[in-house]
Order: sequence, then C-alpha cells, then structure tokens
Amino acid sequence: MLASNFCTTSLILQLLCLLFHATSAAIYSAHFCTNQTFYASDTKFQSKLNTFLSSLVSNSSLPSLNGFFRTSVDDIDGRFLYRGDVNATVCHGCVAAAAANITRLCPNDTESYIWYDECMLIYSNNTFDNDDIVPGIPLNDEGSTVNTNHDHFNQLLSNVLNSLEGKALESSMGEKKFAVGAVSVTSAQTLYGMAQCEPDSTSGRCAACFGSAISTIPTCCNGSGGARVLLPICSIRYQLYPFLYNSTMLIPSSGMHIIMYIIDYESSPLTQVFLIVLKRFNSVH
Ligand SMILES: *[C@@H]1O[C@H](CO)[C@@H](O)[C@H](O)[C@H]1NC(C)=O
Ligand SMILES: *[C@@H]1O[C@H](CO)[C@@H](O)[C@H](O)[C@H]1NC(C)=O
Ligand SMILES: *[C@@H]1O[C@H](CO)[C@@H](O)[C@H](O)[C@H]1NC(C)=O
Ligand SMILES: *[C@@H]1O[C@H](CO)[C@@H](O)[C@H](O)[C@H]1NC(C)=O
Ligand SMILES: *[C@@H]1O[C@H](CO)[C@@H](O)[C@H](O)[C@H]1NC(C)=O
Ligand SMILES: *[C@@H]1O[C@H](CO)[C@@H](O)[C@H](O)[C@H]1NC(C)=O
Ligand SMILES: *[C@@H]1O[C@H](CO)[C@@H](O)[C@H](O)[C@H]1NC(C)=O
Ligand SMILES: *[C@@H]1O[C@H](CO)[C@@H](O)[C@H](O)[C@H]1NC(C)=O
Repeated sequence: MLASNFCTTSLILQLLCLLFHATSAAIYSAHFCTNQTFYASDTKFQSKLNTFLSSLVSNSSLPSLNGFFRTSVDDIDGRFLYRGDVNATVCHGCVAAAAANITRLCPNDTESYIWYDECMLIYSNNTFDNDDIVPGIPLNDEGSTVNTNHDHFNQLLSNVLNSLEGKALESSMGEKKFAVGAVSVTSAQTLYGMAQCEPDSTSGRCAACFGSAISTIPTCCNGSGGARVLLPICSIRYQLYPFLYNSTMLIPSSGMHIIMYIIDYESSPLTQVFLIVLKRFNSVH
C-alpha cells in the first residue's frame, strides 16, 4: 500500500516505479492449454475462475507459504510453486503475471498450465491426478554451446542432474524439494543446475517426475549447453551461466547440507572434478 501510494504521487515517481517494475518482471517460459473443455465467456464459471485466480495471487505474497500453495474452491483446483531461490516479493509478481497471462493465452480453457522462470501456476476444473507428469515442455537453449567434447559433457550433465534429483528427494513431505549445484566443465566453463519438485508430493511421485524430465534431455536437447524441462509437479534446468536469483545459495554456509562428490572419470585422474550440491532444509526467507 505504501509502495502504491508512493508510485502515484508524481509522474517522475511513476516512471521510476515503471522502470523498477520492468526490471523485476517475471520471465515467461512456456504454457500449455489442454483444449478439452471450454467455458463460455460471461458465465458463472468465468467469474469463479477469476475469483479463484485472484485468491492465488493474493496468497502468493504470504511469506509463510514455503513457496507452494494449492487450493480447491468449488470445482476449481489450482496451485502455484515458486522457484526455491525466489522470495515472496518476486513470487507475488510472477504469480500475478501468470494469472493474468494464462486466461489470455488459453482463452475459455477449463484446464491450463503456465511456467515462468520464477514460478509456475496451473488450474483445472477437475481435480488433478496426483501422478500427473504430463504435460511436459522441454525448452532447448540452442544458443548455448559447450566448450568440450560431447561425451565428457553428457557424462558430467547426467551426474549433475542425478545428484540434484537425489538431493531434492531427501526433503521430507512439506519441505522445499529444491537443489542447486555447480560444477566446472573446463577451466573456462561452469555448469549450473537445479531440480525442484512440489513440497506436497511424495518422493515416489517426484522421482517419477524427475526421471521423466531427465530422460527427455538426450532427445530434446542433446549437446545443448542449456535446457529446461517443465512438468506439472517438477522441473529441471541447467545452464552454462549462473541463473539463480540468489547465487549465494551455491556457497556453503550453515543451514545448508553440503555434499561434495568426486566424479571419477576412468580415462584420467586429471579430469576428476568436484561437484558441490547444496540443499536448503529451511524456507528461503
Ligand atoms: C490448444 O489450442 C491452441 C490454440 O488453438 C493451440 O495452439 C495448442 O497447441 C492446443 N493445445 C493442445 C494441447 O493441443
Ligand atoms: C466443471 O466440472 C464440473 C464437474 O465435473 C462440471 O459440472 C462443469 O460443467 C464443468 N464446467 C465447465 C465450464 O466445464
Ligand atoms: C470464448 O470466449 C470468447 C470471449 O472471450 C467468446 O467470444 C467465445 O464464444 C468463447 N468460446 C467458447 C468456445 O466458448
Ligand atoms: C487464499 O486462498 C483462499 C482460498 O483457498 C482464500 O479463501 C483466502 O482468502 C486467500 N488468502 C488471501 C490472503 O488472499
Ligand atoms: C526479493 O528478491 C529481489 C530479487 O533478488 C530483490 O530485489 C528484493 O529486494 C527481495 N525482496 C526482499 C523483501 O527480500
Ligand atoms: C505473456 O505471455 C507471452 C507469451 O505468449 C510472453 O511473451 C509475455 O512476456 C507474457 N507477459 C507477461 C506479463 O507475463
Ligand atoms: C547426441 O549427439 C551425439 C553427438 O552428436 C551423438 O553421437 C549421439 O548419438 C546423440 N544422442 C542421441 C540420444 O541422440
Ligand atoms: C540468499 O541465500 C542465502 C543462503 O541461502 C541466505 O542466507 C540469504 O539471506 C539470501 N539472500 C537474499 C538476498 O535473499
């Protein structure tokens, strides 16, 4: 409230606020419209959906949520999950953008999915099946090239993703299932990765989801220096640049569980590398 009063007092301030807003805007990744059943506009369902999405948006600014919120009102089931390294402020902006965009991108649809860098939001007129690992959207960062031979990189990537999955799965029910890590590929390139699953999903469901996501990489994104696989309950991402909001999560500190792996290449001891996987046990903010 204070911020919005501040932003409306003068044109200069409005411009400053716009600028601030633009730099902190959520980054859209992908969406999926189910296209199975549609509602007519100006119906009771449309107004229920609008009310429902507004309640998701207002709940998204509550820092107590631990990054995840699921609710069901009347026939509508929906949820959002924010990336483990973003705070409630960033999340709120992301969920607001997602809620506004989803009805524009999937007009009249009774079930839709939208993913941003910082959050994901989905709703359905039916209760989601708890084992849903579809739809899945692979995004290949084709511009990103690897500076080493393919076999070496693929081996490294597979080790990183499997380690991150393992760390994310260690959280108990209700805790954030989020792991980030970094490993050097060459002296000039570092591979950054993350894996996240919904806090209220069982390890079994998350493992199935991660398995599906990781197995997509060789087909969608073979040899690429960056990729994401976005699913309804989990996602994975890797890049050759740091993409976390809070890169200090990659630095060991108290409150984190630190695992150091030695990835052993049989070819030569010189290619041994250290992988540091960090996982937070507590909520970020
Ligand atoms: C749903 O419809 C939109 C618009 O026609 C289309 O672009 C999209 O591919 C469809 N989605 C599915 C899952 O078929
Ligand atoms: C939503 O689902 C309910 C229960 O399955 C059904 O009665 C209703 O017609 C559906 N609404 C729309 C708009 O599809
Ligand atoms: C979808 O909504 C638009 C207006 O938003 C309306 O013109 C159209 O008839 C609706 N389509 C269906 C299939 O209900
Ligand atoms: C959160 O969502 C629920 C619906 O599940 C709604 O009743 C409640 O008012 C929302 N809370 C806030 C702070 O918006
Ligand atoms: C939340 O994160 C953003 C982006 O890192 C930062 O600009 C902002 O100050 C943070 N807000 C709070 C309340 O920590
Ligand atoms: C809405 O979605 C489109 C993708 O069709 C994206 O380019 C745009 O940035 C999104 N806008 C917001 C405000 O999230
Ligand atoms: C990935 O690319 C490498 C090198 O181009 C090739 O040898 C390998 O067969 C490809 N793997 C898959 C699963 O397409
Ligand atoms: C970044 O993460 C570290 C470690 O998790 C935490 O102590 C710190 O408060 C976070 N910083 C911000 C700006 O969110």
